[in-house]
Amino acid sequence: YGFQSVKTIREQREDLPIARLKRELCQAIADNQILVVIGETGSGKTTQMTQYMAEMGFTSKGIIGCTQPRRVAAMSVAKRVAEEFGCQLGQEVGYTIRFEDMTSPETVIKYMTDGMLMREYLADNNLSRYSALILDEAHERTIHTDVLFGLLKALLKKRRDLTLIVTSATLDANKFSTYFLDAPIFPIPGRTFPVEIMYTKEPEADYLDACIITVMQIHLSEPAGDILVFLTGQEEIDTCCETLHTRMQALGELAPELIILPVYGALPSEMQSRIFEPAPPGSRKCVVATNIAEASLTIDGIYYVIDPGFCKQKAFNAKMGMDSLVVTPISQASGKQRSGRAGRTGPGKCYRLYTEQAFRTEMLPSSIPEIQRTNLGNVVLQLKAMGINDLLGFDFMDPPPIQTMVGAMESLFSLGALDDEGLLTRLGRKMAEFPLEPPRSKMLIVSVDLGCSEEILTVVAMLSVENPFYRPKDKQSQADMKKAKFFQPEGDHLTLLAVWEGWKNSKFSNPWCYENFLQARAMRRAQDVRKQLVTILDRYKMDIVSAGRAYKKVQRAICAGYFTNAAKKDPQEGYRTMVEGNPVYIHPSSALFNKNPEWLIYDELVMTTKEYMRNVMTIEPKWLLELAPPVY
Ligand SMILES: Nc1ncnc2c1ncn2[C@@H]1O[C@H](COP(=O)(O)OP(=O)(O)O)[C@@H](O)[C@H]1O
Ligand SMILES: [Mg+2]
Repeated sequence: YGFQSVKTIREQREDLPIARLKRELCQAIADNQILVVIGETGSGKTTQMTQYMAEMGFTSKGIIGCTQPRRVAAMSVAKRVAEEFGCQLGQEVGYTIRFEDMTSPETVIKYMTDGMLMREYLADNNLSRYSALILDEAHERTIHTDVLFGLLKALLKKRRDLTLIVTSATLDANKFSTYFLDAPIFPIPGRTFPVEIMYTKEPEADYLDACIITVMQIHLSEPAGDILVFLTGQEEIDTCCETLHTRMQALGELAPELIILPVYGALPSEMQSRIFEPAPPGSRKCVVATNIAEASLTIDGIYYVIDPGFCKQKAFNAKMGMDSLVVTPISQASGKQRSGRAGRTGPGKCYRLYTEQAFRTEMLPSSIPEIQRTNLGNVVLQLKAMGINDLLGFDFMDPPPIQTMVGAMESLFSLGALDDEGLLTRLGRKMAEFPLEPPRSKMLIVSVDLGCSEEILTVVAMLSVENPFYRPKDKQSQADMKKAKFFQPEGDHLTLLAVWEGWKNSKFSNPWCYENFLQARAMRRAQDVRKQLVTILDRYKMDIVSAGRAYKKVQRAICAGYFTNAAKKDPQEGYRTMVEGNPVYIHPSSALFNKNPEWLIYDELVMTTKEYMRNVMTIEPKWLLELAPPVY
């Protein structure tokens, strides 16, 4: 292991399965306006095709864009391609993700999230800068990829000079081909070794614990080769890594070194590059990742995969009328994809922490496309802003349920973004300019008139980043004490504002973050988001004004966006949502936990043991009548 690193970049490129088919592939691209490319993960589709197309001359007529469903993948792949291309990241090769633009006028190969390409379409519905587009990882079927399918299918009829490639890691290729007017399918045979699959005899009560035990067993008794563990999110991954560290420390000199590497979306890029570095001889790498390592990122040298069988998915809770992130069993297709990760460098093993029975009878053959299971508020708003009014007639590959679409229109209507004929209002058009969920763009726009945009900018930015509070296992009470110092009687939104103000007063200092158990990285991201939002406000000449101590203004602005998420205290226990009367509870991490005000609104719901409201704020019930007449 590690032999990869001694090869030059050119040798590594020539070694990829795609390289052997370069000539045929380029011919197929030249001959067809639309091409579907399928191939095993790691065959070189994402990193090589853009470069081949640049060699073919596509960059003389425009730029080459390649979309990724995940931010981390867009960043990581662009970095690698810049290296291969021999340029600095952001020059000829760059990337754009929400709130971050690493491109320049020199950029000819651009990686981006699919959501960013949709925004570009909003500004220019000919996408005239592009001579070619690759919709990568189309099998992920994110909501944005699905919308782009429809938009690009129509655009390609208008722009005969635009080439489209759709790539997929799985066997959905036929479906893609049929949808895209019978486009030819170009397969890239992968290089795969057999993977031995093992199931548990009984369902695991605690899969996290089972993962840790399995990692330790492999490390102590199996031959060399790196381990890849699939978990559902940052918190779980951090816990797993911490526990593994502790167990390894307890073994001391008795065990060879285990290099434990977490991988998730919010990880800083220095950490991300470390996962690609081969483990030094005598040691073993253990990568603990979210779904991102399923297909978007390829890590060489993995011989062992541990798959508990879960992932975190956004799901639309029709009862609540909103999305929540829920831990869901994966599909059989995901399970196969995960086990395949063990067979890239040699014969591998996959430990499925579920029963064979569960795999065969409980898991769906493939995942449900996101568009059929999430809130469509933002997508509907953007389609409307693109001038597409007949949403029920839009050419979706798999149309979303009509109730979800109607629900989204109703909530945009109650926010004032659509009029009673379903057409975009002036407010709606402004809202579509912000890369934010409709309730957040609404509260920002309203805050300009209410005279508190300075504060709402901060609140929106802080809500847009991952949890800024740092709570290490061994210093929980200390961390909680520091956090409590920021608590505001109005609730979590103003608590986040207080955190920001404190950081600002420290002149945005890192040591201040450490002292206060705050994640400096999250704070800096909030700063970036805030700057971007300021740029958009400036562009539309919307004033940035401070409310000073008049926090009521801030609360009212927040309420103007989130009035549908109001809840009233239940005489027995917890709360009831105003709209549907469902039982909900204040999240234990909240500033208002155990304070139990009569009325509040929440930012989101998370379903764990109960339906918890995260980020809550007190309100006066009369605001609901003032700010949301269509609902109350
Ligand atoms: N950020 C990176 N750092 C180092 N190597 C990378 C990086 N991204 C990709 N690679 C290498 O490039 C190879 C091809 O990957 P990729 O083009 O992403 O394949 P595919 O898109 O077909 O799954 C991988 O096997 C991996 O070794
Ligand atoms: Mg790829």
